Amino acid sequence: MNRPFTDVDYSELEKRLDALISDSPAAVSALANSSALIFEHIPDVSWAGFYVRRREELILGPFQGKTACIVIPRGRGVCQAALREGKTVVVDDVTAFPGHIACDARSRSEIVVPVKYRGEVVAVLDIDSYSPGRFSGADAPGLEKLVGVVEKTVGDRISGLV
Ligand code: SME
Repeated sequence: MNRPFTDVDYSELEKRLDALISDSPAAVSALANSSALIFEHIPDVSWAGFYVRRREELILGPFQGKTACIVIPRGRGVCQAALREGKTVVVDDVTAFPGHIACDARSRSEIVVPVKYRGEVVAVLDIDSYSPGRFSGADAPGLEKLVGVVEKTVGDRISGLV
């Protein structure tokens, strides 16, 4: 029997992520393994990865899934909304989100969590699904915990990636 998506054990994933990346000598390795862990263990995800901030743009970082847009210009897409607002953005129906960038035409819902260093957004974690409304209430706080591990691990090293 399929378990409902709300059964993702984010506390367990948080521990696993910490064990996996906390000793990483390079930020790129930590982000690569973070995207792989998320893609493997969170069901019904079509794409999971990071965009790293370079001034006002977001540049594609480590990810799992199909090829994606390399540069997200200022003001465009869900990712830039999360950068601008400095908080998690959940979109139940991407076709109704003005400015959404469809890297994969089948994408239907999306969640973007900002990654911060000293209060500034330095990257975003972007996760897409082919199912509408995939990212329910439990996912935002759970993914924010995972991003907390990433922030603790990569800190100021993330900006040097792009
Ligand atoms: N949909 C995103 C762009 C990145 S892809 O989903 C991987 C956005 O609107 O910002």
